[in-house]
Parts: sequence; C-alpha cells; structure tokens
Amino acid sequence: MRVTSLFYLLASLTMPAAFAQGEVSVERGLQVSIIGGCHDCHTEGYSETEGKIDPERALMGSSVGWRGPWGTTYATNLRRDAAVMSERGFVGMLKRIRTLPPMPWYNLRAMDESDMQSLYQYIRSLGKAGKPAPSRSHANEEPTTPYVQLVPPQMPKN
Ligand code: HEC
Repeated sequence: MRVTSLFYLLASLTMPAAFAQGEVSVERGLQVSIIGGCHDCHTEGYSETEGKIDPERALMGSSVGWRGPWGTTYATNLRRDAAVMSERGFVGMLKRIRTLPPMPWYNLRAMDESDMQSLYQYIRSLGKAGKPAPSRSHANEEPTTPYVQLVPPQMPKN
C-alpha cells in the first residue's frame, strides 16, 4: 500500500465524520459543542482532562465561579434548559441571549439554525438534567465556591 493511501485510510478512521451542510443530528451537535467551546466552561473538569467529555457531567454547568465587577457568574447547566424547552424555544433563546461575562454570547450569532438544532438534540441525548449550577452572587459578596478572578476586569456594555 502506498504511503499516501495509508494516510487517507488512517485519517478517515480517526477524523470525525464530515456533516452535510444543514444536517441536524446528535453527532453534529457534539461537534458544534466542542468547536463552539461550550464544554470549556459548561462541563466541569473538561479543561483539566484536556478535552475528555465525562458523559456524567457534560454541559451540566460548573461550580467554579467567574468573578469581576459584575459579581460572580457560573456557567449554567444547559441540560436543565433543554429539558424544559422545545427545540424551537431553545434555538430562539440561543439567538437572543445576552449574558454577563465571560459567556461569549456574541459567538452564538455566528451559528446557523442547524447548528443550534443539533446542539439541542445533543444536549437532550445526554440524559438526566441534574442539579443547577450555583447561582450568581453580587460583587460585594465573597463567593463560597472556588472562582477565577478576571484581571483586568471586563465590563459588559449593557
Ligand atoms: C468562557 C466560558 C463560557 C463559554 C466558552 C461558554 N459559556 Fe455559556 N455561560 C457561561 C457563563 C459564566 C454563563 C452565566 C452568565 C450569567 O450568569 O449571566 C453562561 C450562560 C449561558 C447560557 C444562559 C443559560 C440560562 O439559563 O440563562 C446559555 C444558553 C449558554 N451559556 C450557552 C453556551 C453555549 C451554547 C456555549 C458554546 C457555544 C457556551 N455557552 C460557551 C460561560 C461560558
């Protein structure tokens, strides 16, 4: 076997499947969630394990806070949103949300409808919704959880 064809054979075995444009599927939702960076913050332990997705904790939010002048925010449990929303409702939320830092809500504007639908299907496929992440605390409150202090602080514009 020539070296090049061996390369293509191996590449096809290890690379994620290419998805047709506009395809809506759980597998594509997984890919969107990884490339979109959602696990970076919404899946506890994801960065620490260099990108291993623990199915028990995937997108269930995080107990590590992000502290700045806006208070301390926590990446929310996205399974709880998806569990009580229709696909259309979830997509509508993703199109409109504007949150406090460091959630990059503006990045969601670059997703197309099928990215968001796939994301919804992936999140729904993960199983039980689980507990909510800790609630946001005010700037003058000392967080009771571990937190990341953002320096220099970035303030939302409103
Ligand atoms: C840098 C960390 C970070 C990344 C990356 C991130 N999020 Fe967030 N996300 C947060 C934080 C923190 C909040 C809570 C913000 C607040 O309290 O206002 C949040 C809130 C949200 C909310 C609001 C939930 C609700 O119930 O109000 C949604 C939806 C959401 N994120 C979806 C996503 C998706 C989808 C991705 C990937 C495309 C993503 N996030 C990537 C940190 C992040």
